[in-house]
Amino acid sequence: MTSPTHETQPTIDATMRALVARRYGAPDVLAVETVPTPSPGEGQVLVHVEASSLNALDWHFLTGTPLFMRMMSGVRRPKRIVHGADIAGTVVAVGAGVDQYSVGQRVFGLGDGGGLAAYAVLGVKHMVPIPDGVSFQDAAATPLAGITALQALRTHGTVQPGDHVLVNGAAGGVGTFAVQIAKALGAQVTAVCSTGKVDMVRRLGADAVLDYTKDDFVVGGARFDVMLDNAGNRTPAECISVLRPGARYVVVTGPKKNRWLGPVPHILWTGIKFRRADASFHQFTAATNVEDLALLAEMLANRSVVPEIDRVIGLDGVAAGLTEIGAGHTRSKIVVTPG
Ligand SMILES: NC(=O)c1ccc[n+]([C@@H]2O[C@H](COP(=O)([O-])OP(=O)(O)OC[C@H]3O[C@@H](n4cnc5c(N)ncnc54)[C@H](OP(=O)(O)O)[C@@H]3O)[C@@H](O)[C@H]2O)c1
Repeated sequence: MTSPTHETQPTIDATMRALVARRYGAPDVLAVETVPTPSPGEGQVLVHVEASSLNALDWHFLTGTPLFMRMMSGVRRPKRIVHGADIAGTVVAVGAGVDQYSVGQRVFGLGDGGGLAAYAVLGVKHMVPIPDGVSFQDAAATPLAGITALQALRTHGTVQPGDHVLVNGAAGGVGTFAVQIAKALGAQVTAVCSTGKVDMVRRLGADAVLDYTKDDFVVGGARFDVMLDNAGNRTPAECISVLRPGARYVVVTGPKKNRWLGPVPHILWTGIKFRRADASFHQFTAATNVEDLALLAEMLANRSVVPEIDRVIGLDGVAAGLTEIGAGHTRSKIVVTPG
C-alpha cells in the first residue's frame, strides 16, 4: 500500500472479521472468521466497508451453481471465499497508480466479492464517489442491480420517452431499479410481481401493476415496445405475442433448473425463436463501468432513483438472506452492514 497524502492516516488492522465460505454449498457453509486484511493492488483502493448488499450472483458463487461457472470460480474449491460484490465504504488506503481517490472519501462500486467483511478492495474502474446526501446503505444497494437495470433498459432496450415497457419480475433487486429507471427515461411502465409486492411496486412508480397470481400479461391484449424479463418464466412465443413490431425483448435470466448450464439453454432457445419475430432479442451480462456508476450516483443524488431496501442485516443474517434469494422470491434489496 502506498501512503496517500492525508493528514490523519487511519489505522488498518492486519486482520479483519469476514464472512467466509471455504467450500461450495448451502448458506450453512458460511462462517465468521478472522482473516488477513486485503491490500490494494495497482489501480485499486482499500475501503472500510460500511455496507454491502446481496444479489443472486452471491448465491451462484456460494453454491457454485450452475456447475459450468466453476470453470471460472474454481473447480474443486471456490477462489472467492468472501462474497458481497456490492460495496460502499470509506477509502482507507490507495494502491499504486491511484491519484483520483484519497483516504477518507466515500465511494461505492462493484468488487470481485469481498463486501461481507470489514475491509474490501475496489478497482477504480468499477467505483465512483458517493454523492453528498446519499447514504452508504442506498449506495450499497445500487451497483449490480442498478447497472443491470440501466444497461437493460437504456443500452439494450433503447427505451424512449413514451415507450410502453413491461417489467416481468419487478419486485426483486433488478426489478425495483428497473421500474424507477424506466420511469426516469420517460416510459409508461407495466410491472409484474406477486400479490404481497403489488403496493411496493406501485409506490415505486409503475403505471400498472399485474399480480401474476391473478392476472396474466400474455392474455390481456396489451402490447409493449420493450419487455425486460427478470423472471424468464414464459415461453418465447408468449413473449413475442406481447411485443409490438420493432419492439425489444431484453432478458437477463431464465429457469435455473439445468444443473450444469442454469438458464443458458432456455435463453439460447428463446434467441433462436426470436429470429422469426418482428422484435429484437437482447441477452447480456451486466458490466460495470465508471460512466454508468456515475449516472446511477447522479440518479441517487437527485432522487429519481431511491433504492428500495427490504431490510438491513448484520453478517449473522446473511445465511437467511441468501437462502431467500436462492428461493427466487426476494423482496427488493437486502443490505448488509458488516459492523
Ligand atoms: N444478466 C445479468 O447480468 C444479470 C445481472 C443481475 C441479475 N441477473 C439475474 O436476473 C434475475 C433477477 O435478479 P434480481 O437481483 O432482481 O433477483 P432477486 O432480487 O432475487 O429477485 C427475483 C425476483 O423474481 C421475481 N419472480 C419470481 N418468480 C416470478 C414470476 N413467475 N413472475 C414474475 N416475477 C417473478 C420475484 O418476485 P415475486 O416474489 O413477486 O415472485 C423476485 O422479486 C436473477 O435470476 C439474476 O440471477 C442477471
